[in-house]
Amino acid sequence: MEKIIISNKVHYLGTNDRRKHLFENNWPLPQGVSYNSYLIADDKSALIDTLEFGSRNDYIESIAEILDGKELNYLIINHMEPDHSGMAGMLLHRYPNLRIVGNSKTIKMAETYFKIPKEQFLEVTDGTVLDLGYHKLNFVLTPWVHWPETMMTYESTDSILFSCDAFGSFGTLDGGIFDDQIDFEYRYEDEMRRYYSNIVGKYSNMVQKAFAKLEGIPLKFICPSHGPVWRENPGKAIALYNKWSRHESVPGVVIAVASMYGNTEEMADYAARLIAAKGIKNIRIYDVSKTHSSYIISDIWKFSSLLLGSCAYNTGVHPMMANLCHELEVVNPKNKKYALFGSYSWSGGGVRTLEQFAEKMTWQRVADPVELIGVPDLAKMEGFRSVAENII
Ligand code: FEO
Repeated sequence: MEKIIISNKVHYLGTNDRRKHLFENNWPLPQGVSYNSYLIADDKSALIDTLEFGSRNDYIESIAEILDGKELNYLIINHMEPDHSGMAGMLLHRYPNLRIVGNSKTIKMAETYFKIPKEQFLEVTDGTVLDLGYHKLNFVLTPWVHWPETMMTYESTDSILFSCDAFGSFGTLDGGIFDDQIDFEYRYEDEMRRYYSNIVGKYSNMVQKAFAKLEGIPLKFICPSHGPVWRENPGKAIALYNKWSRHESVPGVVIAVASMYGNTEEMADYAARLIAAKGIKNIRIYDVSKTHSSYIISDIWKFSSLLLGSCAYNTGVHPMMANLCHELEVVNPKNKKYALFGSYSWSGGGVRTLEQFAEKMTWQRVADPVELIGVPDLAKMEGFRSVAENII
């Protein structure tokens, strides 16, 4: 492959995964995902994160070609999740004297993955500097962005932040690697937010702590381990992460509905019409049985308000709505206005279960739930007027 240089002796060595259907066997990948790895071929060489195992056939040979007969000295493991550490075993086989660089938590985890002696690890912490020659690596521990051992590596000569999952995105890199080579808004912004809200969003307060640690550090490049590399406008990636981790939203309503025979869905459409009549232009109705929860959660993260509606199902909530509620409880989007609705035929339970869920969230209820028996009519849906009035 053609060499891709980030800056001076820093090479991009990533790959695209267009085969996998589900990231972490859970999150749909209609646009694929990239795994990014970076090689610094300085007086001493260092590889920053690897790839998912088996995702690039020529990975080891490409490293050897760039090193041109020299040893690979260090493998920096910013994050142990196997989409980034998956090729470490192969590297240790090829370079048996390779030193594995990580913090105390990384090393503890790595010991359970790679059977290598303790002396082969190099433990670093905040403030440790690894001098490669021209390039100097500094380490910033950023726990829970996205696992407890996660850290970032900052190269201080050329001001490059290797941020691993942070600032990452779903979506393969289709020719363009850098932010100035892609149409970010068209191709990546939604996928970056879907990645953030579902993978990292639970740890938003830890993202803010990481920002505090990075404050004042000059950043010319942000090199995440998924998605585009930022060199033209790294401030944009920071601004997006800052907004999402502060739970800032834009005016709009997500209506997520579970409906077996169309009655509850009819309620969703009626509510949406009333809300649109109030001048609200951003309204998205999602059928939870059709759209994967990650897309719904991404839009809930983006917009200020949500309506959750479910038919009754075995005196509870519909199973697909139960799944969405579970995921919402995990990632915990904040600062939302909400209302609930639902229908039933012979016994309630859908709306009641939604109320029990919503009480666990830190959201603001704007109106009483709208619940009806049988088929909807205008009189039964009168309660939506108050919802429409107050939802934004
Ligand atoms: Fe991309 Fe937390 O792994």
